[in-house]
This record gives sequence, C-alpha cells and structure tokens, in this order.
Amino acid sequence: MPSKILVTYASRTGSTAEIAQAIGKTLAEGGAQVDVRAMQDVHDLAPYRAAVAGSAVRKSKWLPEAARFIETHRAELAQAFRDVYGLHHACCCSINSMRSVLCNRF
Ligand SMILES: Cc1cc2nc3c(=O)[nH]c(=O)nc-3n(C[C@H](O)[C@H](O)[C@H](O)COP(=O)(O)O)c2cc1C
Repeated sequence: MPSKILVTYASRTGSTAEIAQAIGKTLAEGGAQVDVRAMQDVHDLAPYRAAVAGSAVRKSKWLPEAARFIETHRAELAQAFRDVYGLHHACCCSINSMRSVLCNRF
C-alpha cells in the first residue's frame, strides 16, 4: 500500500504554494511522508495513499491546471476525497488543528 501523502497546488503569485508548503510541513512534523508538488508536475497518483489539493481562485473558479488535474485523476481522487471528507471544517482552523485532523486520519 502506498505510504505517502500528496499536497498539490495550483498557484500564480505564490500564496497557494506557500499554504501547500505549510500543510506539507505540518503533516511531516506529525510523522507523515509528504510530497508537496505543483499540479502540473504530478502525473501519477499511484505512490500516494491520500491527496490534499488546493488552487488559487480566479473569478470564482480554480485555475485551469487545477481543473484539469481533478478531471484527469477524478477516479483515483474520489477515494482520497472520501478519506478527507469533512476537512473543510479543519481549513477554518489553524494549520496545527489541520495537522491533528490529517495525522489522526492517515
Ligand atoms: C484576476 C483575479 C481574479 C480573482 N478572483 C477571485 C475570486 O473570484 N474569488 C476569490 O476568492 N479570490 C479571487 N482572486 C484572488 C486570488 O485567488 C488570490 O489572490 C490568491 O490567493 C492568489 O493565489 P496565488 O498567489 O497562489 O496565485 C482573484 C485574483 C485575481 C488576480
């Protein structure tokens, strides 16, 4: 079974990338094996047991590469998204709260 968690992002000016790095760092501090990658650099989800995906928003939509990523990996992500269902509650909390939620689940 794959052991790593993927944190992937689509960003234009760097803010979403910074958030992804912070999530990856806190997950790693909780003991997880984590890769933080730009979405355009992710081609294979097989090495990952779970994925956290985020995108900058333009005119209420994710960036095109983020929409493509979700479409391309829809079937594999369906399981991962079920695994992190409810995480939107944690997103309103601090990164440390998110770490405890994610690390308890994974
Ligand atoms: C042209 C443009 C349109 C935007 N539209 C939205 C929007 O509809 N909703 C929103 O919440 N933020 C919107 N934003 C804000 C960006 O999502 C925000 O600046 C984001 O944090 C940038 O992320 P990045 O640094 O990873 O590229 C917009 C920004 C720009 C420049």
